[in-house]
Amino acid sequence: MTDLFACKPIALLEAEAADTEVQRIVAHGNPPLKRTLRLPSLIALGIGGIIGAGIFVLTGHAAAEFAGPAIALSFILSGFACTLAGLCYAEMASTVPVAGSAYTYAYATMGEFIAWMIGWDLILEYALGSATVAIGWSGYVTSFLRDLGIHIPSAYASAPFVFDPATYKWSHTDAIFNVPAALVIVGVSTLLVIGIRDSARVNNLIVAIKLAIIVSFILIGMWFFKTSNWVTATNPHGAFVPPSLGPGHYGWGGVLRGAGVVFFSYIGFDAVSTAAQESLDPQRDMSRSILGSLGICTVLYVLVGLVITGIIPYDKLNVPDPIAVGVDHIGFGFFAPAVKFGAILGLSSVVLVLLLAQSRIFYSMAHDGLLPPIAARVHPRFRTPYITTIVTGLAVALLSGLAPIGLVGELVSIGTLFAFTIVCFGVLILRFRHPEIHRPFRVPAVALIAPLGALASVFLMIGLPPDTWIRLAIWLVIGLAIYFLYGRTHSRLARGI
Ligand code: ALA
Repeated sequence: MTDLFACKPIALLEAEAADTEVQRIVAHGNPPLKRTLRLPSLIALGIGGIIGAGIFVLTGHAAAEFAGPAIALSFILSGFACTLAGLCYAEMASTVPVAGSAYTYAYATMGEFIAWMIGWDLILEYALGSATVAIGWSGYVTSFLRDLGIHIPSAYASAPFVFDPATYKWSHTDAIFNVPAALVIVGVSTLLVIGIRDSARVNNLIVAIKLAIIVSFILIGMWFFKTSNWVTATNPHGAFVPPSLGPGHYGWGGVLRGAGVVFFSYIGFDAVSTAAQESLDPQRDMSRSILGSLGICTVLYVLVGLVITGIIPYDKLNVPDPIAVGVDHIGFGFFAPAVKFGAILGLSSVVLVLLLAQSRIFYSMAHDGLLPPIAARVHPRFRTPYITTIVTGLAVALLSGLAPIGLVGELVSIGTLFAFTIVCFGVLILRFRHPEIHRPFRVPAVALIAPLGALASVFLMIGLPPDTWIRLAIWLVIGLAIYFLYGRTHSRLARGI
């Protein structure tokens, strides 16, 4: 057994980075990528991973339940916290040479125990994240098919369980299983097993479509904006920040809680940090692309938040496809199918990125001996970690078929915020422990930015409901048990290999 806080030596990480076989598998069967990415492609990569279910789905839920029209403020708050964490990711991505993830960074800076807990926690971000996006995908596909005259019975397109945050009670619906949500996970997992080549061009195309849809929605929707739509039964004067109805239920508490929920819409910028090794000029472009994609998304999100609550009263927005409902509402029937098609395409790419990241993390953890070696097994022909991809795919498919979107989304957000907090601390610790390492990108005023990033993440976590904290705690306790039963004795570091 090893010291709980033993760090993976930087030299070992460097050796792994140089090991083309490891890099090939981490890159999922693709040949190691060359330094080819310029700033526009890096920004497109960020936007491709960022814009998804958050804006196309959760905006409606967050506005209807928590923030009302002030959802725009929630987006600003969340974007600010992400920018601080994003700076820390940029430094880590340019300094720790293995394809980045909070797990690797934690192993290099805070030791095995914290690394395990973060790796375990990242399951919430990536596996649960993809389940959330798949549920959103299902909402848009069902709606799109309905426009084409194909009706999927709601019993097979929504979750059989719902959770009421007001009473903390579960109840059963008439639905049986969300079939489209499970299908997209199975389809994407199959692609991941076979191995798909990274293609900046495909990503650029999807990003262009997503952006076109969102910008058109803003440009068309703003002509239908009326502050009279802010008036609801519980907001008779049409206040921008609706009067509070309880903790986290409208009012400023609701803005904070809304920020915690829509934080989901920013998840994915860490995908840019994983491309550090493929960037032509990481020193200059990592920070610019992370901050650039975050900046562009923040502006778009704030505008979408303003437009959507200005064209439909927010209490009618608790639907799985709020943007499409918005377009239908203003009578732009011809535009609705385009919105839905763009959302379907855009959400598929996010599912792909998240599931890819999940199998990459599992692979790294198994490679380090913290998970059974079977999870690192690579398909002889496809050269992809197929066992972990299939097992993850089946578990996530089941979850996305059964769980309601709001509930899963909140758990994803809290898990990711926890990882951000650790990365912010990790940057400081690495500066302290290894001041000598070459850092192509350095967080400016790190003594201020890193703690502020951690604080902002914790602040957003506080905005999430107490039961989400309880679920996070239960998840971490399960992780703790697995670590002490397995990882602690099996890790390569512990066994000195
Ligand atoms: N940010 C990604 C989304 O909103 C995860 O779908």
